[in-house]
Amino acid sequence: MNVLILNGSPRSGGNTARLLKEATDVFDREGVTYDLYSIGSRGVRGCMACGYCHTHGACVLKDDVNALADKLAACDGLLVASPVYYGSANGSLVALLDRLFYSSPCDKRMKVGAAFAVARRAGTTAAFDELNKYFTISQMPIASGRYWNNGFGREKGEISADEEGLQNARVVARNMVFLMRSIALGRERYGLPEQEETAFTHFVR
Ligand SMILES: Cc1cc2nc3c(=O)[nH]c(=O)nc-3n(C[C@H](O)[C@H](O)[C@H](O)COP(=O)(O)O)c2cc1C
Repeated sequence: MNVLILNGSPRSGGNTARLLKEATDVFDREGVTYDLYSIGSRGVRGCMACGYCHTHGACVLKDDVNALADKLAACDGLLVASPVYYGSANGSLVALLDRLFYSSPCDKRMKVGAAFAVARRAGTTAAFDELNKYFTISQMPIASGRYWNNGFGREKGEISADEEGLQNARVVARNMVFLMRSIALGRERYGLPEQEETAFTHFVR
């Protein structure tokens, strides 16, 4: 089992990293490997809607997205965590996820998704919903926890005092491991669900 982890915070050693550590400790104990990618202070350009990926199966822009697409193809689960900026996920992370999900040709079905949002005070549920939308448009089941996955703190490390948030991160990580293992068994025994040809309409024709 392997998990691709995306940390959408530009701050190294920030609260999002601290929350993710709670999850990676679980993965370490369970023998689950992971690739941890931090967006850091790199600017990530948004999708240009150029359509290059339709014909080439990769994004035209030369940054980390295409390498992450290979990791996404190989993983069993995707864990995305973001600080909340103005009630939303970090803009660079959203730009990266738009391009990653849109341009990558891999089959994402039954890869387990989980998302966390970290804030000083508010906006976590909106950011959480926003991040979950990438999973639910891709036939990816979601590992959930005991709350809508959040953590609270402003200055670096303050989230360490959020006992419930950290505990929930451990719960989600354990549920993610269980789901990934169960899906691997189910895939072996039953195969993936039958796929219909996509009906792709936009209401005017
Ligand atoms: C540009 C910006 C916008 C922010 N907007 C919000 C917000 O809408 N709600 C909130 O509670 N905290 C907000 N914060 C605070 C961060 O979410 C908070 O400090 C969080 O712990 C940062 O996570 P990190 O340490 O992983 O970077 C904002 C911070 C920045 C820099």
